[in-house]
Amino acid sequence: MCGIVGYIGSGEATEYIFDGLKRLEYRGYDSAGIATITNGGIDRRRGEGKLVNLEKKLREQPLAGSVGIGHTRWATHGRPTEFNAHPHTDGSGKISVVHNGIIENYMPLKEELIEKGHRFVSQTDTEVLAHLIEDEFKDDLEAAVRAALKRVEGAYAIGVISTHDPDTLIAGRKSSPLILGLGDNENFIASDVPAILPHTRKIIYLDDEEIAVLTRSGATVKDLGGNTVDKKVETIEWNPVLAEKGGYDHFMLKEIFEQPQVIRNTIGGRTDEEHAKIYLEEMGLSVEDVKKLKHIYIVACGTAYYSGCVGKYMIEQLARVQVEVDFASEFRYRNPIVDESTLVIVISQSGETADTLAALREAKKRGARVIGIVNVKGSSIAREVDGVLYIHAGPEIGVASTKAYMAMLIALILIAIQFGRMRELVDVPEARRLIRELKRLPRLIERTLADVGNIQEIAETFFEARDFLYLGRGVNFPTAMEGALKLKEISYIHAEAYAAGEMKHGPIALIDRNMPVLCIATKSATYDKVLSNIQEVKAREGNVIALVTDGDEEILKFTRDVISVPETEEILSPIVNVVPMQLLAYYIALRRGSDVDQPRNLAKSVTVE
Ligand code: G6P
Repeated sequence: MCGIVGYIGSGEATEYIFDGLKRLEYRGYDSAGIATITNGGIDRRRGEGKLVNLEKKLREQPLAGSVGIGHTRWATHGRPTEFNAHPHTDGSGKISVVHNGIIENYMPLKEELIEKGHRFVSQTDTEVLAHLIEDEFKDDLEAAVRAALKRVEGAYAIGVISTHDPDTLIAGRKSSPLILGLGDNENFIASDVPAILPHTRKIIYLDDEEIAVLTRSGATVKDLGGNTVDKKVETIEWNPVLAEKGGYDHFMLKEIFEQPQVIRNTIGGRTDEEHAKIYLEEMGLSVEDVKKLKHIYIVACGTAYYSGCVGKYMIEQLARVQVEVDFASEFRYRNPIVDESTLVIVISQSGETADTLAALREAKKRGARVIGIVNVKGSSIAREVDGVLYIHAGPEIGVASTKAYMAMLIALILIAIQFGRMRELVDVPEARRLIRELKRLPRLIERTLADVGNIQEIAETFFEARDFLYLGRGVNFPTAMEGALKLKEISYIHAEAYAAGEMKHGPIALIDRNMPVLCIATKSATYDKVLSNIQEVKAREGNVIALVTDGDEEILKFTRDVISVPETEEILSPIVNVVPMQLLAYYIALRRGSDVDQPRNLAKSVTVE
């Protein structure tokens, strides 16, 4: 949700910043802009829409300078026009600001500043910040930024440049992500690691209410009182190539194909098949803690939420603890029944989703122990939970999440087996069997990935549909929900998921010959019931696309649109079954000409409420 990049060095700032913005475009792409200090003043270029428009402007009117800030926007306040695009400047034109987040008290601040004679040209909350810094400025830019930040409420990650102090780049954060990248006589700020990975792997994570003062030779971090804070410099292990498309047409496709390797990475050194052991010490839970558990909440948003829905089945089945799954945006406001005896598991790829972060804080406030399942190292959620389980999926750039979902499911099944072992409900042979099967999953998924032709044909048959119904039961009901979400997100086809048994209570009214119905009918305890559901659809002339287990001949009596996947344990089947869902959504979106990696109105990481 909005991407920020800043550069100070001896190179052409615009080149570094534009390249960084391209890598952050997944965070927002409705307008973009760059400002630099040049010829003793501040100059900027801004463009509506995607970065190509800004690129065109920069080609026509290059922007020189070796200190600058850039921004790619996902609009919150003010329409996505050029006027509202960042960077924003103060009245004197001497201060320029990029911002990710929401200044919640911007209206009273704006009124106050207008009374003092400031004139505003945009509808954004960010412009208030530029004027506020101007208002606070006496002779020290850093002090003015600190004073301004003390007055704002809400969330911010900011980059500031000014002709008052032309050899300095200032950054600050509260509740929105921001990192510093330390190079060789050049330094960077960015919303996320991929933006600066080609230039440095040395990173400092800013914490809330900290500011950073960057020069060409270094960076100093301070609190808002002006006291220097000692910060750890971390080295990022990600290879820059991981954040490239690597020959695939889209990041999403690349990330789908990375999934077998992602499973191996998530399992990592966490299992010992021979001794039926799972190692999840990072959670910091003792056998006693787990034995005492009465209630678990899983809290997340979007795709992470659906992984939690699968996790509920896994944990309840293997560890027999009651699990409730909640949208983070609901959990935080509904006075949830949470106390010291509750375990809360928050799940987030980015580790920055505002609602999930707020839910985690709410849970902690109520005394619960909070565990995070997170992809991005050092992210806000990872730092605030009591124990974090990293999923090691690597950078996920496609806005529609695929490999992170897969890795979340792996983390959840590891937790379920481990809790089951600790509570003495999963015995050694069962744990061994599950671990062995888990390790087989990458090969099973490779088989599905080797046979995408069939899915492409099905996409060709149905890509013009206006609506889709997805049906699944049990542990694969969430797979149906995730499948429908993928289709909605990237193809803009309306898709709804239902627990197959519920179909007769409403959605059956929608079925006619124009309605494709994707039915998950892989081997399970309820296979026969799903077959009955399929017949109910056929009886109403619906078109069934069936997802079945290899070797299922029965299904051919009902439909010729069949996708088959290798057999696995029912509890692990969502891990295998989601792959064709992702591919079907991808090929349908491709056939409809959508922008797969950057679907309209969405953003990869939603850092506003
Ligand atoms: C956004 C993204 C989704 C993602 C959700 C939660 O809506 O578009 O793909 O699932 O946020 O993100 P998180 O980073 O917390 O997993």
